[in-house]
Amino acid sequence: MKIVSSRLKRSFYSFKTLFLIRCWFVGYYRYLELLLWRIFGRVSSPPLLYKKFVIENYAKIYCTKVLVETGTYYGDMVEALRNKFEKIYSVELDSDLYSKARWRFSTDPRTHLVKGDSGGLLSDVVSELEEPCIFWLDAHYSGGVTTRGATDSPIMKELEQISKSNFKNVVLIDDARHFGIFPSYPSVDDLKNFASEYVKFSKFFVKDDIIRILP
Ligand SMILES: C[S@@+](CC[C@H](N)C(=O)[O-])C[C@H]1O[C@@H](n2cnc3c(N)ncnc32)[C@H](O)[C@@H]1O
Repeated sequence: MKIVSSRLKRSFYSFKTLFLIRCWFVGYYRYLELLLWRIFGRVSSPPLLYKKFVIENYAKIYCTKVLVETGTYYGDMVEALRNKFEKIYSVELDSDLYSKARWRFSTDPRTHLVKGDSGGLLSDVVSELEEPCIFWLDAHYSGGVTTRGATDSPIMKELEQISKSNFKNVVLIDDARHFGIFPSYPSVDDLKNFASEYVKFSKFFVKDDIIRILP
């Protein structure tokens, strides 16, 4: 019994060490990724650091202190932005990714991780909000360790729920290149028509693979 428990303890600590090494390595790798993306003509989807700057920039323009992310994954965007916001909510469907991220941010009172399908429970987060925020919609199935909900992308359901907000929020949707290409991703035009029914916005445009819906 003792041997089993000490083995379990050891594998738990080695999992933690590996996860920490991954987080540390990824943190530095991001700068190289951004540099390469800038040098080689922005042919691919922008790296995380670029997306972080986009979100940060809108937070400054609209004076928003709250970020709501869908699709936590390992929590790299939360990590990149947690010093820039007073509160960050992040929703993840996959139990394993959710518990890893919970452990990663367990000592940070600014981060609120939610486990579940953002297509269904984003409205719970929306009802908690007391001021305008930035929505970073990045929940979707993307192979590997990620999880698939009822559909590959819960985007339409997410927008429906965001429409219940009493505030003028900034809505940013990642991976614009998937829209109109993969099943369960509407075309950008359909998304715009749909959004105009649900969300009040003054600008809707796509730039650098991010769909931007601005109040
Ligand atoms: C592209 S990753 C997110 C990357 C993350 N935002 C980042 O910047 O590091 C997409 C994540 O969404 C999660 N996901 C897929 N469908 C979901 C859903 N319906 N609700 C919540 N999360 C979902 C996947 O498990 C995956 O972790």
